[in-house]
Amino acid sequence: MGYDTIQIKKLTPVVGAEVSGIDLTKPLSALQVAELKQALADHMVIFFRDQPIDFENHKTFARYFGGIHIAPSTAPWTVPGHPEITTIHADENSTFVAGEDWHSDMSCDPEPPLGSILYLHTVPEIGGDTVFSSMYAAYDGLSDRMKAYLEGLTAVHDAVVGFGGITPPGMTLPKSSHPVIRTHPMTGRRAIYVNRGFTVKIEGLPPHESAAILAFLYQHIQKPEYQCRFSWRPHSIAFWDNRCLQHSAIWDYFPNRRSGYRVQVTGEKPV
Ligand SMILES: [Fe+2]
Repeated sequence: MGYDTIQIKKLTPVVGAEVSGIDLTKPLSALQVAELKQALADHMVIFFRDQPIDFENHKTFARYFGGIHIAPSTAPWTVPGHPEITTIHADENSTFVAGEDWHSDMSCDPEPPLGSILYLHTVPEIGGDTVFSSMYAAYDGLSDRMKAYLEGLTAVHDAVVGFGGITPPGMTLPKSSHPVIRTHPMTGRRAIYVNRGFTVKIEGLPPHESAAILAFLYQHIQKPEYQCRFSWRPHSIAFWDNRCLQHSAIWDYFPNRRSGYRVQVTGEKPV
């Protein structure tokens, strides 16, 4: 579709678009917000360049799309005085980087975040890309037999998996059951909603059958034709829709520094 207030450049025919003609350090008009919502629905992830936003700009931008999702389990990494903002950082001292494996953010929550808005101010000269895979395209790529098999199944998503099997002291990590195939509330399209980052089993199946089906789906969603790959520059922003995408943050830049902030927009119970 056409847009009046923004320009769109697609990254691939399937997923992702760069948005220009907008300044996210300034208040947005109702039409700009409506067009950004449409762009997100059309492209699943939208990217912005040269947007040196501060904490207030970041929160204001997120609130145009809903409330701000605060996950208690990420509290240790929030910015002091800004519980809505999570620090994303890796450098020469890092032994682990969050989000390396394919996942949909916090799918372990009863109402997982609709979307995530990641702003990076410092990036390696080369490397540190994020890869996104369209779960619409992955669903469409299944055989009718497999679609029928998955219909009506639910799966358990457990934050303990996302935390490497460790529950931090004094913390209760979320665990939820969601449909294996979900319907996007805005587009009505069907999407695969199991991910290696959080999903532990499909309910009602023998364990070995659940494990085999999940292994197939995790391999299937990694087909390059379902993906786009975003190369960050300082002050780039990515805003992705967790309901129809999975992503993977590539940690190929050690010992270099990659640093910024993430805010998540509240979502709904997957159906
Ligand atoms: Fe993530």
